[in-house]
Amino acid sequence: MSYHDIYNGWKADPEGFWMEAAEAIDWVEKPSKALFDDNAPLYEWFVDAKVNTCWNAVDRHVAAGKGDQTAIIYDSPITGRKEHISYADLQSRVSHLAGALQAKGIEIGDRVIIYMPMVPQAVEAMLACARIGAIHSVVFGGFAANELAVRLDDAAPKAIIAASCGLEPGRVVEYKPLLDGAIDLAEHKPEFCIILQREEHPIELTEGRDYDWYEVQDGVTPADCVPVAGNHPAYILYTSGTTGAPKGVIRPTAGHLVALNWTMKNIYNVDPGDVFWAASDVGWVVGHSYICYAPLIHGNTTIVFEGKPVGTPDAGTFWRVISEHNVRSFFTAPTAFRAIKRDDPKGELIKDYDISNLRALYLAGERADPDTIEWAQDIMGVPVYDHWWQTETGFTIAGNPAGIEALPVKIGSPTVAMPGYDVQILSDEGHQLGANELGAIAIKLPLPPGTLPNLWNAEDRFKKSYLNTFPGYYETGDAGMIDDEGYLYIMARTDDVINVAGHRLSTGGMEEVLAAHPDVAECAVIGVTDALKGQLPVGFVCLSKGVNRQHDEIASECVTLVRDRIGPVAAFKLALVVDRLPKTRSGKILRATMVKIADSEEFKMPATIDDPVILDEIKAALQTIGYAKA
Ligand code: COA
Ligand code: AMP
Repeated sequence: MSYHDIYNGWKADPEGFWMEAAEAIDWVEKPSKALFDDNAPLYEWFVDAKVNTCWNAVDRHVAAGKGDQTAIIYDSPITGRKEHISYADLQSRVSHLAGALQAKGIEIGDRVIIYMPMVPQAVEAMLACARIGAIHSVVFGGFAANELAVRLDDAAPKAIIAASCGLEPGRVVEYKPLLDGAIDLAEHKPEFCIILQREEHPIELTEGRDYDWYEVQDGVTPADCVPVAGNHPAYILYTSGTTGAPKGVIRPTAGHLVALNWTMKNIYNVDPGDVFWAASDVGWVVGHSYICYAPLIHGNTTIVFEGKPVGTPDAGTFWRVISEHNVRSFFTAPTAFRAIKRDDPKGELIKDYDISNLRALYLAGERADPDTIEWAQDIMGVPVYDHWWQTETGFTIAGNPAGIEALPVKIGSPTVAMPGYDVQILSDEGHQLGANELGAIAIKLPLPPGTLPNLWNAEDRFKKSYLNTFPGYYETGDAGMIDDEGYLYIMARTDDVINVAGHRLSTGGMEEVLAAHPDVAECAVIGVTDALKGQLPVGFVCLSKGVNRQHDEIASECVTLVRDRIGPVAAFKLALVVDRLPKTRSGKILRATMVKIADSEEFKMPATIDDPVILDEIKAALQTIGYAKA
């Protein structure tokens, strides 16, 4: 069947489509139907089923006689370690850790925060929670204590599972001060922590609060899989919105299983047993869906890679991993390829490796620029598929369904909508626009299984962020267009979210931090174009009256403040002290115009601007840091 047949088949009978996809999952109690719409515009899927995610990701493969197959390959160029973990080993490790969690009082529905680097134990911790119906929330290691504290207060976890350290090139990231700092800052205190001691930097455990990863498992009864309802939250993953308070995206258990399993063949074109590699981090949605859950649910081998595309030890690392582990489908962010291209522009290093087993490269997380796609295609000799999705959806909204039918690639487009998604372009007034017309990208409700049914503890915010602007639709926050062949183009965000090295960040969140500096009266943060990371944040601060200190000193304090409060991942290194910010007469800061100036693009003078001269001042300030060249 062609993509069009399958897409149209879904559109004609969504219920039948998803019930058929659900047959690939092992249910404790089968769902009686797919969609539950009695609470529209809030929708849920497979609500009356009983199921366990860990059973589907681990135990069922062992039960089917595949216990010896490798489930996880850990490859850490940073430490030089490599490990192959079979499905049977994984079952044993996960059931023991889950048993330890149970012995310490973790029950179905309890939250557990996971704060770990890219080690297989991070995946084991996620699966151990899923095994007993605990709801995990993984926090990316590059966030500071304050961000962890915000998540502690929102998720109110009974426990934290962490490692003693993470390893960045040339730097040990000590987790203990971050953990202690977060617990101090947060109002909600976890009952206990489980700490994986890494030999690169073991730590002293806090008596009565911290338990060693291995000791806590000593003598425990391994836990069985606990069946949960279809709409039980599998996890909460916090993502950036317009303010500093992150949004807790809920992932519903049954829909997650069904949808992710469907994507592995139809989008990523792998069969059970194939090696699938997503070079991302478990702290992001790509890591949740495509390092941990989807490959394991589908019976693939997944790779946990603790390294960077360059510098660990060189720009040939990706080729080495693909070749050594026979990777079939590979997924990463365009930034990683821009980094490789910068270090090895002619792609010399790839010549040392045989990557002939690789069938395709998948890019997502940020705009894939044509140069990068073409370069990757040239040196790798495989198709490069851009695909577009979000933390909220958990899997592809628009992509190239290579396992159904590889559609012709149009560079600059992530291709077409996947079954489950009726993607439309809307005007500001909510009218559907025609082919090639630019507008807000919206998805007709209901969203498919596995996508967010709500935000944790924040139903009003859920409605306000996604449902209210265009009644009957989910607002993606992206703007773009669809051409006359149904190919989608993603052009920009419609909010203040920026994308730095494939990491989604809130400029509003950074502004809240800058505004807390005692000398700052007002501020604005914008995302400017960066050749490597796609975008970089630049902060503008206006000082309070009477502040007479060196501007450089204040700017560097601002940089430190954002690093301390949000974390190194914000990559906030550019702060400028200016006299005034450009505003409309009603006082709205003209951030979009500032971005155009920084990127040396033409712009139309906003009709409502209060004082156009300020734009010249902004331009002059940007020129001091190498932007606004024209
Ligand atoms: N724990 C602690 N710190 C982390 C971290 C982690 N897990 N991940 C990143 N950081 C730190 C980095 O060390 C860096 O710190 P520094 O300011 O002291 O140098 C900072 O956060 C910014 O990191 P990053 O934006 O990743 O930049 P980089 O210069 O270290 O690396 C790339 C550049 C291109 C190599 C890197 O961004 C990369 O591999 N990108 C791939 C994108 C990706 O996987 N995205 C995931 C979504 S699919
Ligand atoms: P995240 O939730 O971190 O995955 O970020 C999702 C956002 O990243 C989307 O809303 C887009 O703005 C952007 N994004 C993700 N994938 C793509 C892509 N393939 N092309 C353009 N932008 C993308």
